Amino acid sequence: MHTLTKCLFPVAGYGTRFLPFTKSMPKEMLPIINKPLIHYGVEEAVVAGLNELCFITSRNKRAIDDYFDVHYELEQQVAGRDQARHLQDIQDIMDNTCISFVRQRHILGLGNAILCGKTLIGDNCPFGVVLADDLCFNEGKNVMQQLMDLYNQYQCSVVAVQELSPEYIPNFGIVTGETIADGTIRVSDMVEKPSLDQAPSNLGIVGRYILTPDIFTLLENISSGVNNEIQITDALRQQAMHGQVIACVFKGLRFDCGSTKDYIAAINYCYQKHSGHQN
Ligand code: G1P
Repeated sequence: MHTLTKCLFPVAGYGTRFLPFTKSMPKEMLPIINKPLIHYGVEEAVVAGLNELCFITSRNKRAIDDYFDVHYELEQQVAGRDQARHLQDIQDIMDNTCISFVRQRHILGLGNAILCGKTLIGDNCPFGVVLADDLCFNEGKNVMQQLMDLYNQYQCSVVAVQELSPEYIPNFGIVTGETIADGTIRVSDMVEKPSLDQAPSNLGIVGRYILTPDIFTLLENISSGVNNEIQITDALRQQAMHGQVIACVFKGLRFDCGSTKDYIAAINYCYQKHSGHQN
């Protein structure tokens, strides 16, 4: 049994919902007060014990690489001063992780982005996947930790799901299956972005996955799906047909920070939670 230590962060997408900001800045660098979205996703993985971080990046995303690198001039500037505390969190992440980057040259979907990570993950390691625009907050175990508990129990791929109201269903991967424990479903089928009448349930996949390494061979062999993209949902469906996918109805809050409404809600939530926040 392989210990989970690796996590993929697909960050290559264009972020068209946030144009024109995303013309020159990655959407993953949108600030939630003073930390970018990607920082929260990485924190979640690190808290869950995943400290080998692999970013699937692309052109125009260099701000992410720089964020997770040293900045000698700035560090020297604030050294010994009160402002140095603002760099502590990111410094802790850098000190406790190993970070690598690979570029996705053509934006061909989430499945293709994950396949680009094969070279960093290797052939026989299970790994986490975090989509940073799904920003999640929990009082107890974070979403990735909840998925890891299920992975340790069932030894197969695990996806986080939540109940959706109908208008959101056509934007998500939707799963169905048998409830085998409280909040735990053995997935039998899944569909990417179905129309309402074709959706097998109202349970949508949110951007947290644990994938077993056979997913790479499946991704290499599937053809393009919805939107002419290689869809991770289509590869997972093949695992699901063999009973090898568990869905976790996760506990916690999720903000879709690709939408302006949820993005602002996430900022307000963080501001209120840390109302002592001061610069
Ligand atoms: C991707 C996945 C989809 C999932 C969603 C979660 O879609 O393809 O199955 O439900 O992330 O955020 P995207 O948001 O990239 O269209």
